[in-house]
Amino acid sequence: METHALEYAFVRSTEAAAIAAGRLVGLGDKNAVDGAAVEAMRTALRDAALAGVVVIGEGEKDEAPMLYHGEEIGSGDGPSLDVAVDPIDGTTLASRGGPGAISVIAAAPRGALFRTRVPYMEKLVTGPAGRGVVSIDLPLEENLRALARAKGREVSDLTVALLDRPRNEPLMRQVRAAGARVRVFGDGDVANGVYAILEERANVDVLAGIGGSPEGVIVACAARALGGEMQGRLWPRDEADEVIANEEGHDIRKTLTLNDLCASEDALFAASGVTDGEFLDGVRYRRGSAFTQSIVISTYTRSVRTIDAKHELRPRDLRLDAIEPKSAATP
Ligand code: FBP
Repeated sequence: METHALEYAFVRSTEAAAIAAGRLVGLGDKNAVDGAAVEAMRTALRDAALAGVVVIGEGEKDEAPMLYHGEEIGSGDGPSLDVAVDPIDGTTLASRGGPGAISVIAAAPRGALFRTRVPYMEKLVTGPAGRGVVSIDLPLEENLRALARAKGREVSDLTVALLDRPRNEPLMRQVRAAGARVRVFGDGDVANGVYAILEERANVDVLAGIGGSPEGVIVACAARALGGEMQGRLWPRDEADEVIANEEGHDIRKTLTLNDLCASEDALFAASGVTDGEFLDGVRYRRGSAFTQSIVISTYTRSVRTIDAKHELRPRDLRLDAIEPKSAATP
């Protein structure tokens, strides 16, 4: 995979989505937030030097006009990639004006990313210390003890992030029984998964529980890019989901390893803050300009780069429905 140009194109697309959606934060319209982000991200990717295919996107072609599964993106001139987009992770957060909504894109070489239409997946995500140490097939208590040993810490020093849903209550009880700390979040599986991988950057050691499958594959790209760990298992809600899994040839009991989720050593992940979060600031607007904060994680640089950018907005961009950065200045 090419490096800097691609990283730059990707972060430009999340910046553009964040700027477009950020205008609509707190207005209570989820669809408008999502629509603005999707359109801005797609426009920003139009001329990017890659031959990308959306494998995680807004849905099937007949239900999503843009960034649908199978849509080809980029100029066609560049690396062949599977692309996973989530123009807004935390649509409800953004529409209600809550913290932690981000815009995300991830990629790996063509054919590398796990594909499924089963909406939910069990997940276990840790930083590099968890590699070869934790297993989604073991009880969470056991994993926490093993991870604490690997990190040279006590179980009581560990924090487990859990999406706050009734289906994750049993896991919450397991974390408490083990003596570790729980951090619940209302939305935003991607940001919390990345916190777990980035160990030292956030107060999260593990992301566990059942959340969205698309978000799971995106987090797997970040885990690949940073040498972290992620395992999963499809979580069908009902028979209809089981039928989907069957049609796709997936065994719902199978443990999905990091290699199943992202079958390449190469991966790229970029995200921009839409609303203020723990380590990405949301978009700030000033007269004629907007400020964004983004993170780019890539196997090539083996680095985590945080990018603060000021974008001059053209007069037409000041309309609420068409905001796209003219230039991104990276310090
Ligand atoms: P959206 O931005 O698509 O609404 O997703 C937010 C999110 O919290 C994800 O991060 C998470 O994986 C998923 O929703 C969980 O789904 P549900 O709200 O149906 O439990």
